[in-house]
Amino acid sequence: MDMTTDLQSALHTRIIENLHTAVLLLDSSLRLEFMNPAGEMLFAVSASRFIGHPAREVLIDRELSAALEQVLASGTPITERELVLNLGYRPKVTVDLTAIPLVDADGREALLVEMKQVDRQLRITREEGLLAQSYATRALVRGLAHEIKNPLGGLRGAAQLLERELNNEELKEYTNIIISEADRLQALMNRMLGPNSLPRKRRINVHEVVERVRQLVNAELSETVTIHRDYDPSIPEIEADADQLIQALLNLVRNAAQAVGERGEITLRTRTLRQYTIGHTLHKLVARIDVIDNGPGIAAEMRESMFLPMVTGRADGTGLGLPIAQSLINLNGGLIEWESRQGHTVFTILLPIEMDLDNRQEKPS
Ligand SMILES: Nc1ncnc2c1ncn2[C@@H]1O[C@H](COP(=O)(O)OP(=O)(O)OP(=O)(O)O)[C@@H](O)[C@H]1O
Ligand SMILES: [Mg+2]
Repeated sequence: MDMTTDLQSALHTRIIENLHTAVLLLDSSLRLEFMNPAGEMLFAVSASRFIGHPAREVLIDRELSAALEQVLASGTPITERELVLNLGYRPKVTVDLTAIPLVDADGREALLVEMKQVDRQLRITREEGLLAQSYATRALVRGLAHEIKNPLGGLRGAAQLLERELNNEELKEYTNIIISEADRLQALMNRMLGPNSLPRKRRINVHEVVERVRQLVNAELSETVTIHRDYDPSIPEIEADADQLIQALLNLVRNAAQAVGERGEITLRTRTLRQYTIGHTLHKLVARIDVIDNGPGIAAEMRESMFLPMVTGRADGTGLGLPIAQSLINLNGGLIEWESRQGHTVFTILLPIEMDLDNRQEKPS
């Protein structure tokens, strides 16, 4: 009998110690009784150092500590999805959390807390969503634009022929309207179709692109809008089509400028990221260009759809800036990501850096 209990408890220990989920047991005064290695990893503390200490010393996040007190007081379990933990000086983490009040045979109360970090998973799911959305819209727009452009050409041609037959200048005004509107629609279709040439890639420094865009936008801005620079000068060169990157970044910076309006701050920030996955590909090194603005943030109703063509929150917008930027960056092997809250919006261009570029034999052309 004892043998089996021992075996069982060894088995339980083995399971708990190897779980990916952080497991914490707190006593009735919310002191830490137990924390498994996944918990130590999540909070970057050693369990032995904190056993018997108030849980808030480990959890740090005030709201979480308050919520746990509430669970204990009410005796009702809670489940929170995508809870953002504020771990003081460390980067925030997002977890799915369950807290269950327990009462053992002696009536002793305790609290079992399980937390699973979901940041990485969230990011990858979201990125896959962004990529899939971009492919799907491009296919849709291509089909539609194709169907519109053909009859449009015929329409314009017929209007031109008709114009020649007309002697009455007043009637020619009508054919002129048909022709100019057909041209306008044609131009819109071409913009919606986006880049029609393959990228002409060469080795470039991302700051070549960023500085160019800064100068272009600076000329359009009022003096009360400032563009700050926060560059990492050590970023290795990337292989990309500079004109396409300029166009994409320009669209993002113009959006930022429109968001801040008459008065505001825009920051252009460059960094590298190590071991970063774009879509399904893990890259050793990725260049990251952030466009940060202190405008009002992205309106709630825009968030799901702003990368779709013709979706705009501005009276004079065509809603093509973001989908075009996304497809240009996709063509260069990268992705545009974003995050936004009131007063802080970041659009991020991620582009892979090919590490073996320097060792590659340059082909004589
Ligand atoms: N930095 C930002 N801050 C707040 N909202 C933004 C920001 N960037 C984009 N948006 C929202 O996303 C919408 C779509 O942007 P997008 O660039 O695709 O089109 P647009 O700017 O409206 O028109 P276009 O770029 O074709 O002139 C914008 O209308 C705006 O509502
Ligand atoms: Mg725009």
